Amino acid sequence: MTRTEPRSAILGTGSAVPSAVVTNDDLAKIVDTTDEWITTRTGIKERRVLEEDKAASDLARLASERALENAGLEVADLDAIIVGTCTADYQFPSLACVLEAKLGAKDVFSFDVNAACSGFLNALSVADMFVRSGRIRKALVVGTDVLSRFLDWQDRSTCILFGDGAGAAVLGVSDDDRGILSARLQTDGSYAETLYVRAGGSKRPATVETVENREHSIFMNGKEVFKVAVRSMEEISRRVLGEAELCVEDVSLVVPHQANRRIITALAARLCIPMEKVIVNLHKYGNTSAASIPVALDEVRREGRIAAGDIVLLNAFGAGFAWGAAVIRF
Ligand code: ACO
Repeated sequence: MTRTEPRSAILGTGSAVPSAVVTNDDLAKIVDTTDEWITTRTGIKERRVLEEDKAASDLARLASERALENAGLEVADLDAIIVGTCTADYQFPSLACVLEAKLGAKDVFSFDVNAACSGFLNALSVADMFVRSGRIRKALVVGTDVLSRFLDWQDRSTCILFGDGAGAAVLGVSDDDRGILSARLQTDGSYAETLYVRAGGSKRPATVETVENREHSIFMNGKEVFKVAVRSMEEISRRVLGEAELCVEDVSLVVPHQANRRIITALAARLCIPMEKVIVNLHKYGNTSAASIPVALDEVRREGRIAAGDIVLLNAFGAGFAWGAAVIRF
């Protein structure tokens, strides 16, 4: 295939998780659950929870600084900062603007995209289009979420699933064969109330009643999420591979959204990809929403598990429902 437009490539990655660890046994002290139940149903053993005096932008800043260092670049080299998050520091302005100031970036444009757990893939895809169009040369792409602040710690069906974290990637013009070969996003808004936070938005602003009813934390129909997630991630993964003129056998590594080990193994089975090629780190961090893919990607890059020329498939699914996939040659 002849290339007609520039491609964008990942020049560096970084990640950050809080230091405080909450184990399944810790949770068993506050809700009626067990390490055995959580491990067998989800694969999660522990998660990180952010310190009270910190916000999502603090984790994002650390991950971003590490990604810039890994890329050998300075903040001044950036043209744009695009953040995937559903737990920004404020309702407005965007976390990206807060992050921009914390990093000391100048002469950039910054904004958030909210696609919940799919946020990093959405941000990556938007940044990829800016780079490929020639409008910018370098973008900082971040996925960060602090879902511990939006959990009902008395609801055993949700509080066991999530953790906090941030991951970042620096995207720039590729001067060779490396880069994002294909990226695709999709949504189905008819599932909006299958996984959501009921109150705190314009539909149901915060009142004493919404707080007393515990409406500011995650509500989820887990079984429905599970079913649609596996099917949708399989379909979109096959589509991006097809668009890149690759097949499943060409994939060196899959870095999926880390929601639940059973979702990941079901997806791998449907794609006929052996689990040795599938990255799983959710036992350490739980579901970190938009951070899960960039944190996992950063870990595997630092462990030296991605070689030059490797084809890496990213796929995500989250509230909306919103899902996406990207195929990248490293
Ligand atoms: N400990 C012990 N028992 C529990 C717990 C718990 N933490 N949570 C629920 N149970 C109980 C339920 O009350 C229920 O009891 P009952 O039969 O007496 O009513 C029983 O366990 C079975 O509950 P289910 O909800 O049917 O359990 P299921 O096997 O579906 O597992 C889970 C729940 C893990 C949430 C599963 O549905 C799932 O993985 N869904 C995917 C959702 C997900 O990962 N969401 C993350 C956000 S979206 C995303 O990132 C893709």
